[in-house]
Amino acid sequence: MKDINNYINTNKDRFINELIDLLKIPSISADPGHSQDVLKAAKAVKKTLEEAGCENTEICETKGYPVVYGDKIIDPNLPTVLVYGHYDVQPPDPINLWDSPPFEPIIKKTELHPDGAIFARGSCDDKGQFFMHVKAVEYMIKNNTLPCNVKFMIEGEEEVGSDSLEDFLKENSEKFKNDIILISDTGMIANDTPSITTGLRGLSYVEVEVTGANRDLHSGIYGGAAPNPINVLAKMIAELHDENNHITIPGFYDKVEIISDEERAEMAKAPFDLEDYKKALDIDDVHGEKGYSTTERFGIRPTLDVNGIWGGYMGEGAKTVIASKAYAKISMRLVPDQDWHEITDLFTKHFESIAPKSVKVKVTPHHGGQAYVTPIDSIGYKAASKAMETTFGQTPVPQRTGGSIPIVALFENVFDSKTILLGFGLDSDAIHSPNEHFGVWNFLKGIETIPYFYKYYSEMKA
Ligand code: BES
Ligand code: MN
Ligand code: MN
Repeated sequence: MKDINNYINTNKDRFINELIDLLKIPSISADPGHSQDVLKAAKAVKKTLEEAGCENTEICETKGYPVVYGDKIIDPNLPTVLVYGHYDVQPPDPINLWDSPPFEPIIKKTELHPDGAIFARGSCDDKGQFFMHVKAVEYMIKNNTLPCNVKFMIEGEEEVGSDSLEDFLKENSEKFKNDIILISDTGMIANDTPSITTGLRGLSYVEVEVTGANRDLHSGIYGGAAPNPINVLAKMIAELHDENNHITIPGFYDKVEIISDEERAEMAKAPFDLEDYKKALDIDDVHGEKGYSTTERFGIRPTLDVNGIWGGYMGEGAKTVIASKAYAKISMRLVPDQDWHEITDLFTKHFESIAPKSVKVKVTPHHGGQAYVTPIDSIGYKAASKAMETTFGQTPVPQRTGGSIPIVALFENVFDSKTILLGFGLDSDAIHSPNEHFGVWNFLKGIETIPYFYKYYSEMKA
């Protein structure tokens, strides 16, 4: 397997240039104005799979954006790895905070990436990360070292909730049948502290609308007597947490998995420096649920956060007005064994119940997904751990993360196979933010590590 390093050394410039070509396509799934670009990205992904030596490549239609498929079946009796990733990206906004245009990739050195990082929307989330798999599989096919079968499922709607994927998966379960699912769409602790993600949070995302009077009002003539939906909304939102930062929605915590003190102590062993964390965010203190550490707050506890709030006059200068409507977008991150449909219902009932009679409230659910936890004694986890140990010289730390990949819980239902979250990004890579980047070292380390996963997984499975 030593020749993976030779292969990388000889081809790394080509790998980076191919990734840069993918990153130039603004495949923003949330923006209908970019639908042609999303389709263009799907075609480009199909082409990279072909070039890597995959067969049966196909752009599979769904109700939304297509799923790109490709495989290499060397022997139907051998196990099959399904690689999942997404070619859609988040909108680049706010665009004026980017130091270079989001779809004109450039390589720059940073403190954490002395070998350079590729700056572009989607570089880390997730084009750069799924592309590591394409290149690792290219290496294994070209060098005849692929020890088992591989299938690719690269989708185009992850950043908007993977809405079409559930039906698509159920209708095509035979095509995507696998023994293990491998995903690089998360991060690790640091380049000198490898880790494997063992948990993702679920999500319930809702939008609320509070309506007062039937029209905007003069804030002098009506102020103090008519309901102000913005005041009311702010108060209702504040009521969703108590003084200990517990969420006040009745029943919200009923199904939250209870984690034993032993397990909590085990999790607390993962390296984490609170001072560094605060420094990186330029905050004087952290904020969260009483009784839990920072890593627990994002790893094992559910949350409720306002993601956007608007209404009334937001232009230049002042306008004395009481708006007729106020709005907010709210996300709830969920943990095992909360059910996102149930939580969405609980939220809706509660939010309606705390509204004063003077306003009308409308709650519109957006999307959601269940949490996922992967065991660390599975063959897949052990193979991933050994692969990282081989290329990093250190055993990776298992760690739960706060983010969500809605489709992962569904995979387990449809295929009955475990998912391994082998991510190579860093939290500081600014995914979803301006100046998203992905370390060149991380990109190449991923390509180096992945073939070892196949090797160890096939050996352990045999
Ligand atoms: N790749 C991320 C999820 C992620 C990132 C998990 C880092 C763990 C660490 C994914 O693309 C994402 O952004 N997911 C969304 C959910 C989706 C429904 C919009 C999220 O977590 O907000
Ligand atoms: Mn992602
Ligand atoms: Mn994302």
